[in-house]
Amino acid sequence: MFVSDIHLNNFRNYKSFDLCFSDGVTVLYGKNGLGKTNILEAVFLTVIGKSFRNSKDADLIRYGEQEFNINLSIKEDITENISIKYEKNREKYIKVNGFYLRKMGHLMGNVIAVIFSPEDLQLITEGPAERRKFMDIAISQLYPSYYFDLLQYNKIIAQKNSLLKNIKFQNSASNRAMIDLWNDQLSEAGSKIIYKRYEFINEICKIASEKNKIISGKETLKMQYDSGTFTLEEMGDVDFTNKEEICRKMKMYLLQKMDKEIEREAAYIGPHRDDIIFKLEENDIKRFGSQGQKRTAVLSLKMSELELLKKKTGRKPIFLLDDVLSELDINRQRALINELTNIQTLITCTHIEETIKGISSFKAIELEKLIEKNPLQ
Ligand SMILES: Nc1ncnc2c1ncn2[C@@H]1O[C@H](COP(=O)(O)OP(=O)(O)OP(=O)(O)O)[C@@H](O)[C@H]1O
Ligand SMILES: [Mg+2]
Repeated sequence: MFVSDIHLNNFRNYKSFDLCFSDGVTVLYGKNGLGKTNILEAVFLTVIGKSFRNSKDADLIRYGEQEFNINLSIKEDITENISIKYEKNREKYIKVNGFYLRKMGHLMGNVIAVIFSPEDLQLITEGPAERRKFMDIAISQLYPSYYFDLLQYNKIIAQKNSLLKNIKFQNSASNRAMIDLWNDQLSEAGSKIIYKRYEFINEICKIASEKNKIISGKETLKMQYDSGTFTLEEMGDVDFTNKEEICRKMKMYLLQKMDKEIEREAAYIGPHRDDIIFKLEENDIKRFGSQGQKRTAVLSLKMSELELLKKKTGRKPIFLLDDVLSELDINRQRALINELTNIQTLITCTHIEETIKGISSFKAIELEKLIEKNPLQ
């Protein structure tokens, strides 16, 4: 698939802006603060329905305006039109081929893409929420129903948490029965999440460890599922390829740990506490890895996400590279460029790197000139 046209209206620094793309590699270049990342942000908004930069919808509206609109045409076997409109203090309206989507989750799987930006280093350096976000975006694109499972799970966790807060140390039989009811639902919903995350980590790890070895010339990347439901010891006792078993064991451990949850007034057991441990050979990268080793691991991971999406969906995802080339050495740049065969890739940068010039065919767009040509800009 490839993005063929994009129209932005009052989105970030763009008042009214049109841009056409062709398949293959396009390089959008220009000085800092021009609006290059904003364009990739708009494209990725049609993938997950929100900003990859964790910005609020209201922040995406051009200063002083009341709403933004994004219209995107995607060519695959047919042309698909996706439009997103957001008015201040209202909900977001999403249309696919002219039809409103009743739920945001229905957007998943329409446009599939991988974005790689310098902030992705946070995947290794920051807390577990970053790694859960990475898994959730990737798995939702692979299996759109996962997005709904996640919503359902989060809803139950919120309700269970509010119950735990309200009962305030009253460890009575009736309170325990109520929590037990929530735990039943939590295990049902949670086991679906755990099952898919475990599968995803195993699959992506196989690809990423090889890629990391090729790029670094030596080191094998290992990824380990760090469950928020089961301790390391308990994990050895669970068959993660069996959803029913995960559900049963989750229920059992939730029951065993109910007193602690009542004491802490919080639901602290479940996939909302999941994490991934990244290791180079046997050493935790977060603790022991150099900056370059962390960067290589993230690069391997992003390339693997792209490969997994291709393999599992049989489709061609869009690859968005936001200002990452300048941060990589020549070998790493080449490894990345080698991945770009046969897929649409939108690259942003301040200047065109030598490695880009080595690509057999690419289109370069000087954003400043284009902005000048847009009369309403
Ligand atoms: N809501 C908004 N309304 C108007 N302008 C905005 C809004 N949000 C961000 N901007 C502007 O967008 C510009 C930044 O755009 P963007 O991050 O795309 O730049 P960039 O070209 O990627 O720059 P860099 O090369 O530094 O990464 C800034 O000038 C900023 O002031
Ligand atoms: Mg940028």
